[in-house]
Formats: sequence, structure tokens, C-alpha cells
Amino acid sequence: MTAPRLTRRTVLAGTAGLAGFAGAIGVSGALMLPRGAFAAPAPIALSAGPARVPLVGAPHPDTAVWAYNGTVPGPVLRFRQGDTARISFANALPEPTTVHWHGLRVPNAMDGVPSLSQTEVPAGGAFAYEFELKDAGTFWYHPHANSARQVARGLSGAFIVEEAEPIRVDRELLWVLGDWRLTKDAAIADDFGHPMDGSHAGRVGNTVTLNGAIVDEVPVRAGERIRLRLVNTATARVFALEFNGHAPQIIALDGQPVTPHAPEDGKIRVAPGQRTDLVLDLGGKPGERFDVIDSFFPRQAYRLTRFVYADGAPLRDSPLDAPIALPANPLPEPDLAQAVRQDVLIEGGAMGRLPHGMRMTPQGPFWALNGAAGTGHHPEPLITVKRGQTVVMQFVNETAWWHPMHLHGFPFRVLKVNGQPNPRREWRDTVLFGPEETTEIAFVAEAPGDWMLHCHILEHQESGMMAVLRVS
Ligand code: C2O
Ligand code: CU
Repeated sequence: MTAPRLTRRTVLAGTAGLAGFAGAIGVSGALMLPRGAFAAPAPIALSAGPARVPLVGAPHPDTAVWAYNGTVPGPVLRFRQGDTARISFANALPEPTTVHWHGLRVPNAMDGVPSLSQTEVPAGGAFAYEFELKDAGTFWYHPHANSARQVARGLSGAFIVEEAEPIRVDRELLWVLGDWRLTKDAAIADDFGHPMDGSHAGRVGNTVTLNGAIVDEVPVRAGERIRLRLVNTATARVFALEFNGHAPQIIALDGQPVTPHAPEDGKIRVAPGQRTDLVLDLGGKPGERFDVIDSFFPRQAYRLTRFVYADGAPLRDSPLDAPIALPANPLPEPDLAQAVRQDVLIEGGAMGRLPHGMRMTPQGPFWALNGAAGTGHHPEPLITVKRGQTVVMQFVNETAWWHPMHLHGFPFRVLKVNGQPNPRREWRDTVLFGPEETTEIAFVAEAPGDWMLHCHILEHQESGMMAVLRVS
């Protein structure tokens, strides 16, 4: 792996390590989701605006953020599969914004991309979002205007769609992972748009939060079964989580069910934009403690939090004997025999080069997709297909960097990695690939409109890694 040079202002904890505060991630942030708390049919009021939140906690001052409904992360929007989501959005920010419902199959007009699917919601303006929830799973929402800054300032939240019949667990936990670049006064560093971030690994921060707080300990009980939903809202940081002493089973990726399996190398990799649902059987003994480590950058591994087993009798002596496989969502199956093929060549970045005729200036662009840097508001489509067409897309990453590529509108199957068939062919909406890797995906372009394809390292997106898929 290419360990990026981290331009960290490590400030808060005074250690040279990453995530100054990540040594400790506590209970308050481990949001417990009550069952049966379903949304009422009335529209949900969601507003984006400035707020102050105790991100790091005492004795540090509160952090000035931009937040949905005044909290970081924003409220958990929770529905049931088949519901219609009605969200009445108000913009109390000093600049235009939109809301994108990441991973949800919504009509193009509800997708929240400025100039592609809607006009920006001006400061003081409002917009009514409404869409049917076809798929169950773990999704999220965030702005799609000035996104690298707006997301990094705190605008993001989880969007959960319950299965009609959820799997049986004792408890559900949601960990919204966040990454912040803070000054020593716990303020968000105002160094956005730095070329070093745009051309390298993105704006990786120095403080990692779990549900908007530093969470030291997550209390658990011996014998219980937990469903853990992970959401990575960071603009740049990839997580690779290791659950010491436990054997998590992955049951869904980007909200879409997958055959339950253990991660090949024991690490749960969650890139910006991605989600992972896990089932964890808490097999430790009362009183034991186990670290949860993030080792994506192995030489900067740190403890994200730790499970602390309660004293007292275990809930049960052997793991719960109940199925953990989730029912599939009603996604259209790609018809590979009739597919249109499209390669997407990715060039640029530090230690790389842009295609002939393009110059990398300190202001960017730093990246190109098929020879073009997607920077303007509405670039020419990279590919145009008819509605219902199966598309097989191959990403060829000729850069020295990791990229989580996200396609709007259509979840895709990951068919091949570096030319090798992918045994699980999982569905995803954001696929992470490493330097010099190739990845082949397939999807059905089932809904008309102009849809975005971009890197979810938002500093990469804004410096060229963006393109448009047109479905007519
Ligand atoms: Cu999560 Cu185009 O975005
Ligand atoms: Cu990228």
C-alpha cells in the first residue's frame, strides 16, 4: 500500500500519531437504535446550518461546525422498506447546498446533484425531497455542493431502511465514522483546497470520531449478538478495522446484502462513502476488554475504541442459533450477454501524470478520467446509454493512489478485480481500488437522467475525478 504523506497538524493530543483523540471512543457516541421507531408519514424536517458541538469533549472547547438539525452526525433517518421518504429540507447555511441520498435508488430529480439533477438550494431556500425506498439497508446523506468543504465541516448523517423482517439480534449499533482536521483549539482547520491534499490522499484529518464524539469504550455483554452498521463519512480517510478477539461476519456492503463471510485478512475495510453491516457474536468473558484497531495505514495504527464486557452472567453460553443472511433487495440483474462495455482510465495525481496535452498546475486539475478532468458543473457525458441497458465498466487505475469510485443511481456488481473473477460478485455503490489496479463492475442503467460517477475522496472529485453517465 502507498502510505500517503499525512500533512497532519497534530495538535490536540500532542502525539505524533494520527487521530490525536482516537485513543478513546466512548459510550455516548455508540448510538443505540430502538426497534419500532419508524418514521411517521409526515415530512421530516431537515435543516443545514451552523452549530457548535462538543466534538472532542472537555476540556477542549466546542467546535464550530455545519450540521443537520444542529447535531454531528445529523439525525438518523430511519424508514422501512417500501415507505416513501418525505424530507422537507431548509438551507440555513451562508451558501448554496443540496442533499444527496448516497446509495439509495431515487429518481434523478431527487438525487441532489447541482445542475445535473436540481438547482442548488440557495442560502435561506428550501427543497422538498420525496422518494420511494426500494431497498433496505444502511445508506447515508450529505451535501453535493462544495462537498469537500461542506462534508468536512460536519454535514452528513445515516439513512437506515429496515428490512420487512430484520435478522434476529440482541442489539443494533450504528457507528458513523468521521475524520477531522482540527487546530489545537478544536476548531476545523481552514486549509481547504490545498494542492497537497488534492493531489495526494485527500484531506486526511488528525481526529477520528464515532457518532461525532471520542468514544473510549463501548459496553457489551457476554453472549450477545450485535448488528453493527458502519458508515464512513470521512472525505478522505479509509478505515481498516480489526476487532481483536472477535470474528465479525460481513452481512451487507453499501447497504446491499452479501453472503455472510469473514473478511479475508481479518480487516473490515470501509472507504469514504462506503458502509458495512456486521454481525458480531460477543464471545468474550465478563470483565474482559478488547480493542478495535484501525490499521489501514499500518504504521499509524491506532485504537478506535474498545469493547468492555460487563460483569455479570453472560446472556447465553453459545452463540445465538439464528440465520444472519439478509434477504436480497429487488435490484435488476445485469444481462452480461447484452452489455455495453466502457473502460474508464484514471490518470494523474502526485507521482503520476496527466494525459498528453493537459497540465497539472498547483490549482489543479490533478486527475483525469479518459483524458478529461471533470471540473466544470456539467461536463460532457463520458458515456451515453439507453434506459435498461446493462453496462460493464472497467476502471483502470494508472495512479499511485487509492480511490473509492462512486456511481450515482445504480448499485453495481463487482465482477472482477485485476482480471480475476470476484467470487462473491457483491453489489456496491462505491468500490475501492488500490494503485495500478483494475476493477470491473456491471449494472443496469434502469432510470433516465444524468448521473454522477466520481471518486469519494472529495478532494479528488473536486480536482478532476468526476464524470457523467447519461441514460436516455
Ligand atoms: Cu456520496 Cu456523489 O456522493
Ligand atoms: Cu480518488
